[in-house]
Amino acid sequence: MSSLKEEIHKRRTFGIISHPDAGKTTLTEKLLLFGGAIQTAGAVKSNKIKKTTVSDFMEIEKQRGISVATSVMGFDYRDVKVNILDTPGHQDFAEDTYRTLTAVDSAIVVIDVAKGVETQTEKLVQVCRKRNTPIIVFINKLDREGRDAFELLDEVEKKLDMIVTPLSFPIGMGQTFQGVYNRYEKKLCLFGAHGKQNEEETIVFDDINSKELEKIIGERPAAELRENIETIETVYPKFDLEEYREGLVSPVFFGSAVNNFGVKELLDCFVDIAPEPLPRQAEERMVAPEEEKLSGFVFKIHANIDPRHRDRIAFLRICSGKFERNTNYFHVRQGKKMKFSNPTMFMASKKEVVDDAFPGDIVGLYDAGNFKIGDTLTEGEVLHFKGIPKFSPEQFRYVNNTDPLKSKQLAKGLEQLMDEGVAQMFTKNIDGRRIIGTVGALQFEVIQHRLKHEYGASCDYEPVNLYKACWFSCDDEAVLKDFVNKRKKDLAVDKDGQMVLLAESAWSLKMVQENFPKIEFRFTSEA
Ligand code: G4P
Repeated sequence: MSSLKEEIHKRRTFGIISHPDAGKTTLTEKLLLFGGAIQTAGAVKSNKIKKTTVSDFMEIEKQRGISVATSVMGFDYRDVKVNILDTPGHQDFAEDTYRTLTAVDSAIVVIDVAKGVETQTEKLVQVCRKRNTPIIVFINKLDREGRDAFELLDEVEKKLDMIVTPLSFPIGMGQTFQGVYNRYEKKLCLFGAHGKQNEEETIVFDDINSKELEKIIGERPAAELRENIETIETVYPKFDLEEYREGLVSPVFFGSAVNNFGVKELLDCFVDIAPEPLPRQAEERMVAPEEEKLSGFVFKIHANIDPRHRDRIAFLRICSGKFERNTNYFHVRQGKKMKFSNPTMFMASKKEVVDDAFPGDIVGLYDAGNFKIGDTLTEGEVLHFKGIPKFSPEQFRYVNNTDPLKSKQLAKGLEQLMDEGVAQMFTKNIDGRRIIGTVGALQFEVIQHRLKHEYGASCDYEPVNLYKACWFSCDDEAVLKDFVNKRKKDLAVDKDGQMVLLAESAWSLKMVQENFPKIEFRFTSEA
């Protein structure tokens, strides 16, 4: 039996983030292939929520069902247990992704060589940066014509506000793409070896000045590569493990996921450098993974889409100690003991009941409505893990009950869907009206549909002109009281009873800020 310390040391829990279409699904799949977790390409594809129009949301529901199985994909590689946390590609589900990122210890960002840094990537990286999550960048699709590598590195630094250090560098691009020089392992990785796109030949090559280089890649490419490597060595910082782990510097790799090129190098480096499960900040104290006693938090809840089985799966990220089946744990918010007879873990295509799990692991707990996002399980201590903020929605609508006989069902359905994090609900102070806020338009349809099919309730929506929901705080009680009195009509409470200002426009928010300079307004619920 290995010790808790050894188990922790073996785990790498991370998420892959990208703008849709940059290649996240493809990369995930190739990593799983290397890990032996799947045998055929195409196995992960079904998890992707395709470019769907609002009217296609049923398709999304179907895919949501499938995606439960691939929400967390675990596999063993070398002597490490890798856990990939899947993040929905569809931007309307961005909040789901933000929350998933609170459960990872590091991230890989995929960027399309032709498109560069896109908006969704910027937003997601910001979430990582806030928590100093270490990031590795993978620039994908080198088999296609794309942007100049240095120009892209510049853009990554500027737009993602990070310092990078390329650990591999491309030799040519698109038509002339010959492969990469891997600085990390001092290897030449040749693309399309033996005339086949998806075959890679790796040659150990520790002296870039060796005349062999010309023989392998040709005179001009060799000269160019030497020049580029020299530039890298003068311009970019030397890779430093500690700096990466503190989230200060991000190593960059180049490759082509669909051609399985550069993926093994990425995985090998990832396994070497990515952090094992780290201590986590709870409101009460810092919790170290090596602590004997179990602690963990729920970062995602997935409803069963089959209406005959209303149970849900709550995803628990283990932060410390050892999780055991059929053992009593303390549900902090509800102040009660619970035990789980069939906790599951996801080994890619297979969902297995597990007897135990360790920090960094994600276990799926069958739940009949006890959990909401952010809930903590412990062995008795009262802990609340930080870092699962609510973000201001982008779109708002009043929700109205259209079947007076079913108002209880509607209330229950809304509450449970909000617990799952499908959207946020605000109740206005002045008239008690409920406003639903979402990141994208799709969720409104999903909510309506699920209320009908799962709870037998019906609702419709009414437009409301709002810009953002702002959480606020102020040290000066008197100022806060005055503000609450004066702006009563614009205030509402969120699901957890926190007060928010519903701002109609950027301008009106600015005015409020000017009138109440002592109050701090935020677009997230956590400071
Ligand atoms: P996503 O999850 O980030 O949204 O992206 P996904 O992996 O689905 O990839 C988006 C498209 O980019 C796919 O093509 C995929 O085959 C392609 N792709 C991924 N990696 C590479 C690469 O290294 N080079 C090139 N040239 N293409 C790549 P698609 O046509 O949208 O889908 P499919 O019909 O190929 O499945």
